[in-house]
Amino acid sequence: MRACIAGWGSAVPEGRLTNADLEARVETSDEWIVERTGIRERRVATEDETTASLAIAAGAAAIKSAGITPEEVDQLVVATATPEQPIPHTGAFVGDGLGLRCGSFDMNVGCAGFIYGLVAGAALLQAGNLRHVLVIGAETLSRIVDPRDRGTCILFGDGAAAVVLAPTGDDGPGILGWDTGCDGSATGLLGIPAGGSRLPATSDTIDEGLQFIKMQGQEVFRRAVRAVVDSANLALERAGITAGDIDWFIPHQANLRIIEAAANRLGIDRERTIVNIERFGNTSAASIPLAMTEAADAGRLTDGDLILISGFGAGMSWGSAVLRWGRA
Ligand code: UT7
Repeated sequence: MRACIAGWGSAVPEGRLTNADLEARVETSDEWIVERTGIRERRVATEDETTASLAIAAGAAAIKSAGITPEEVDQLVVATATPEQPIPHTGAFVGDGLGLRCGSFDMNVGCAGFIYGLVAGAALLQAGNLRHVLVIGAETLSRIVDPRDRGTCILFGDGAAAVVLAPTGDDGPGILGWDTGCDGSATGLLGIPAGGSRLPATSDTIDEGLQFIKMQGQEVFRRAVRAVVDSANLALERAGITAGDIDWFIPHQANLRIIEAAANRLGIDRERTIVNIERFGNTSAASIPLAMTEAADAGRLTDGDLILISGFGAGMSWGSAVLRWGRA
């Protein structure tokens, strides 16, 4: 049995943060941001919008698109690095909002989270003979970004997207191969220092801004290209195909230069690479499903297409998967 994508949906806040808005806030310029990242604007949640509210909207759209009822969802996975609150897990809020009573868990693997969620969801579907697994990538990164840090505040945005996994036959559409990995010696390159057991939040940690995301951008950049290329090649090999067979490459949208460098090294041209970073920035675990659902809604993905997805981020963690597009 294979797990295919039987439905999808997305939800992004209406609010937009443009490069011009950022110019008024920090020492930066539209020209610098576009040239170094490819980003022109990001979506930003209002006070009333949260990771769970975006996930619920995306999940409801995916359930509708799959033509099923919430009762037919047997497992929920929410990939997020910006949980609703530390306890309980975001899946509890999302499941409640969607009217689910099935099991749920969060997948906190930064920007690679959706790939981990997809792979875990597919494995549960197969092992448990489940009818459907709902996998959502959802983030409100605007809540953890230091508005005064020009190294990060220009990058991140908010949004959510979801897919419904359903079983197909051995030769049907679905996930054909995957790879996941993590180099935990690089935990210091990207993360939020305070608020966990290592450094509980205090008024001092708040004063120091340690509740915000910190990133060594250049080093993350350097490692990201290598991680994506190596991981993508492993997933391709396990799927028994090569990059030349791929119809669509849907990478994590972190930086246009990373996307282009990775695609270039894999030998995948720009026409086969899905890019929407200019309008959404880096939405971490939501970025790959957001690009995927947007391409699907635009009719760019056709049944039978071979798709390569690949992401990397905090950890440093990475993951890739090859799938054949199409419903059961
Ligand atoms: O999603 C998961 C992981 N995250 C990523 O993948 C992000 C990876 N990293 C990046 O995308 C890039 O490293 C950044 C976009 C964060 C930074 O771009 P960069 O080309 O690596 O710039 P840099 O950090 O090497 O800085 C170059 C210069 C510096 O000035 P000096 O020292 O040369 O005078 C920075 O201070 O650009 C300066 N700078 C800026 N200037 C205008 C840094 N940020 C900005 C800014 N506006 N926002």
